[in-house]
Amino acid sequence: MSVSALSLTRFPDSISGFLQVASVLSLLLLLFKVIQFYVHRQWLLRVTQQFPFPPANWFFGHKISEDQELQEILTRVKNFPSACPRWFWGSKMRIQVYDPDYIKVILGRSDPKSHGSYRFLAPWIGYGLLLLNGETWFQHRRMLTPAFHYDILKPYVRIMADSVHVMLDKWEQIVGQDSTLEIFQHISLMTLDTIMKCAFSHEGSVQLDGKYQPYIQAVEDLNNLFFFRVRNIFHQNDTIYNLSSNGRQAISAYRLAHDHTDQVIKSRKAQLQDEGELEKVKKKRRLDFLDILLFARMENGSSLTDKDLRAEVDTFMFEGHDTTASGISWILYALASHPEHQQRCRDEVQSLLGGASITWDHLDQMPYTTMCIKEAMRLYPPVPGVGRELSTPVTFPDGRSLPKGISVLLSLYGLHHNPTVWPNPEVFDPSRFAPESSRHSHSFLPFSGGARNCIGKQFAMNELKVAVALTLLRFELLPDPTRIPVPIPRLVLKSKNGIHLCLKKLQ
Ligand code: HEM
Ligand SMILES: *[C@@H]1O[C@H](CO)[C@@H](O)[C@H](O)[C@H]1NC(C)=O
Ligand SMILES: *[C@@H]1O[C@H](CO)[C@@H](O)[C@H](O)[C@H]1NC(C)=O
Ligand SMILES: *[C@@H]1O[C@H](CO)[C@@H](O)[C@H](O)[C@H]1NC(C)=O
Repeated sequence: MSVSALSLTRFPDSISGFLQVASVLSLLLLLFKVIQFYVHRQWLLRVTQQFPFPPANWFFGHKISEDQELQEILTRVKNFPSACPRWFWGSKMRIQVYDPDYIKVILGRSDPKSHGSYRFLAPWIGYGLLLLNGETWFQHRRMLTPAFHYDILKPYVRIMADSVHVMLDKWEQIVGQDSTLEIFQHISLMTLDTIMKCAFSHEGSVQLDGKYQPYIQAVEDLNNLFFFRVRNIFHQNDTIYNLSSNGRQAISAYRLAHDHTDQVIKSRKAQLQDEGELEKVKKKRRLDFLDILLFARMENGSSLTDKDLRAEVDTFMFEGHDTTASGISWILYALASHPEHQQRCRDEVQSLLGGASITWDHLDQMPYTTMCIKEAMRLYPPVPGVGRELSTPVTFPDGRSLPKGISVLLSLYGLHHNPTVWPNPEVFDPSRFAPESSRHSHSFLPFSGGARNCIGKQFAMNELKVAVALTLLRFELLPDPTRIPVPIPRLVLKSKNGIHLCLKKLQ
């Protein structure tokens, strides 16, 4: 009796003691976090004081609704010369840069990709060429550069043309006269088809087989999830993110994407088990992308782990199709909105090809079409921005400077719409790219620039030209006035409501 009375009085004591200690500890932790937040914020404000910005809430930063992001950049380009801080919340910001001289300075350095955002891509595309930094990046870039040699790219033109024709045949089936079509989804499948055949030696048509739709959908979801994660203060920590509903959605999208790439690697390995195929590949002077990786793996196991190989495959699978799908879709939209330029391109392609199939040699003989492609990529850069984290202080030509540790976003969208670089920037005017016109070396950078420019630039330009030329030969394109696309910045430039065009089959 006395024992239980004793424990009855002690028990609550020890609970309240524990609770007291716990609450003091959590208060201390909270206080520590608040101080950390405050100190970091004060530091950021101090070191970036030469760069004014529009009013921002001290905690929530710049509240910008998701479809106003690009509009907001245009406002900043007009009101804040060269560069402007964007606050995500009180202790996270990056400097948006849209001046060609500023961008030239940054791209001439070797700062790593910004950790604060690019790391969110790692569970999906791994540390492949896009995310790697330093010496490993350099080794991989050197290993993969031969995959884009023109000996390799030349025969791809035929593969590209075949993929485009499969898509256009499908379009003929779908559209009767005057019917409208959401083109982005079709073009994504077509560019996936192309990259699978060219870089991954895939056989069979991705476009006619429904089983690739889940991969396309996963890439679409991951584009959105990435965008929202960067902007959500509560989703920065991996443990917490993985438990959130967005995080769980992301995990299932990673799984879908990896299932797809695993399958591609497995099936190429199986093909190479076949003596005949192996001999054929060994005789080649230059190897396709996936074969370079597989042979590097076979001949020197230590230089490329399975994980590295997977990362490169995931990187190229994504970069190799989503970017070009965005490019082609927006170019076709721009041409649909400008019938006079569309017709001039069509005339050029018709007189160049007659009835013949398109080949490598034709690609540099369509100057006007190329000007229109470039002008459309200026207005709608498929990759709207790229990030760097300053590894040393930088001083810009106008004397303003930033310290080590600051994140900068090179806004290619802002650069391409900057009125000090491009007069009347919103006007579609292909003559800006006429051979005799002159401009700043860093005024047009759809493929970025410097050492970390796009490795697939030539591949991509070929694909854009083939797709545009062949489409114009078979269809007249008109905009759908009831569904004007609304550009939104994701990993690649997308449209909030898809890209709907009205297609008329040409006789
Ligand atoms: C219109 C199409 C394309 C555009 C606009 C584009 C644009 C870009 C840009 C702006 C970058 C720099 C990214 C950064 O600094 O974070 C980049 C890098 C890269 N692109 Fe592309 N790209 C296109 C097509 C392709 C294709 C078809 C491939 C592959 C076949 C590809 C593979 C890559 C890779 C691997 C990198 C990383 C390169 C490195 O850091 O060494 N891209 N691209
Ligand atoms: C994320 O949160 C968990 C649980 O609160 C914590 O244990 C972990 O250290 C955090 N990770 C980082 C990188 O801050
Ligand atoms: C979160 O999920 C990703 C993807 O499945 C995984 O790679 C990562 O290790 C997880 N992180 C944590 C801390 O649970
Ligand atoms: C494999 O590559 C690594 C690094 O590139 C090199 O140090 C090593 O000597 C190579 N091993 C063989 C067997 O070639």
